[in-house]
Amino acid sequence: MKKRKLDNVRIHAGDARDLFDVLPEASLDKAFLLYPDPWPKARHHRRRFVTEDHLEPLHRALKPGAAFRVATDIPDYVRQTLEEVPKAGFEWLVEGPEDWRRPWSDWYSTRYEQKALREGRVPHYLTFRRL
Ligand SMILES: C[S@@+](CC[C@H](N)C(=O)[O-])C[C@H]1O[C@@H](n2cnc3c(N)ncnc32)[C@H](O)[C@@H]1O
Repeated sequence: MKKRKLDNVRIHAGDARDLFDVLPEASLDKAFLLYPDPWPKARHHRRRFVTEDHLEPLHRALKPGAAFRVATDIPDYVRQTLEEVPKAGFEWLVEGPEDWRRPWSDWYSTRYEQKALREGRVPHYLTFRRL
């Protein structure tokens, strides 16, 4: 950011969910959920981001037609995302059976994704549109 002298970036170094209290309704064009904590134990799945408690305020903060992108290497996280996100008022934009394998054209890989790849896990890229 310093090198490129960017002055339009803000970082909230805290719980992202706190932003829902201050973001105006229909104010965001895009939201990214990149390699969220997997919470592998079934009894902890309610703590995942892709639950009604988080998706409802996210839906409110996004503009109609806004994009919501999810990247994860955890197959059960994909399952829960595909079950819960459409229920919360989003449409999954999918262009074919292998679509989830293709990163977005403007994608920058993340540190966690690099680790997942090194350990042989497969990234999944899901794109939703807020209805
Ligand atoms: C598996 S790491 C992925 C980090 C990074 N997105 C990447 O791909 O390299 C998950 C990250 O989510 C962060 N996280 C979990 N819950 C959060 C929350 N409520 N608000 C903000 N960050 C959160 C954790 O601190 C952790 O850094």
